[in-house]
Amino acid sequence: MSVVYLNGEFLTAEKATVSVFDRGFLLGDGVYEVIPAFGGCLFRLGAHLDRLQNSLDAIGLQNPLTFEHWENTLNQLIAENSHPQLSIYLQVTRGVAVRDHAFPADIKPSIFAMANPIQKLAESDFQNGVGAITLLDNRWQRCDIKAISLLPNVLLRQQAVEQGVAEAILIRDGNVTEGSASNVFVVLNGKIITPPKSQYILPGITRDLVLELAIANNMNCAEEIITQDMLLSAEEVWLTSSTKEVLAVTKLDDKAVGSGKPGPVWQVMTDIYREYKNGLLNH
Ligand code: PDD
Repeated sequence: MSVVYLNGEFLTAEKATVSVFDRGFLLGDGVYEVIPAFGGCLFRLGAHLDRLQNSLDAIGLQNPLTFEHWENTLNQLIAENSHPQLSIYLQVTRGVAVRDHAFPADIKPSIFAMANPIQKLAESDFQNGVGAITLLDNRWQRCDIKAISLLPNVLLRQQAVEQGVAEAILIRDGNVTEGSASNVFVVLNGKIITPPKSQYILPGITRDLVLELAIANNMNCAEEIITQDMLLSAEEVWLTSSTKEVLAVTKLDDKAVGSGKPGPVWQVMTDIYREYKNGLLNH
């Protein structure tokens, strides 16, 4: 039985319970983070906690813990759930109060964190790439907030699953934003492109890492608007996230992307990414 963190305590998952009046449960009023831990080390904790701070600021919620307190708490959680590749999920909700849409005065936020082994991608998905569909991005205008209220993302991903593919790539006003739970890259005329940060995408930590690695290795890359036409004519399409890492999309809306196999630029990036990650695992 895994050990989780809830409001200052480490408990077995079955003992960790939350009030039915929690605003996370009733209203989806909270934010979250997903942080990988490789070889027991939190990956880019600073970047994740900065993003958490931005999400908390955006919803007018004070950060309940200091950086050191988060770091110690999450490290203890890792020690309690030892595994070489963990995914740490943490969420902060506005807390327990009589149901009302407006913020209640003087309530304590609820803090929850759990650690689960990262679900390894099937080797065949990694080697062959996955399918995706394009869907209209019908989410709200603050997709930069990592909000726990994920119903639009849930419904979009479910449409992908029902069509037998791994992800929905979202289009807003004719341009690519991101996946239902991932960022999107394309390779066009040999150049790696991902949409610039805006209120319409989550600023992915993996996205930033991929850009950093591309620049460090003198690969041609840019943050530019990707139109739907550019997406559909791209030589390569990739998805990135903390749990998917860099995943090739080889079928889009039932058509092959490029050769229908993960492309050469993906292969170069994957080798660089894996080497970087192995460095962390063997740290
Ligand atoms: N989601 N965009 C969306 C909408 C996401 O939900 C995620 C990640 C990303 C990629 O961000 P990062 O590289 O920091 O993981 C982009 C996580 C994994 C989740 O909700 O489980």
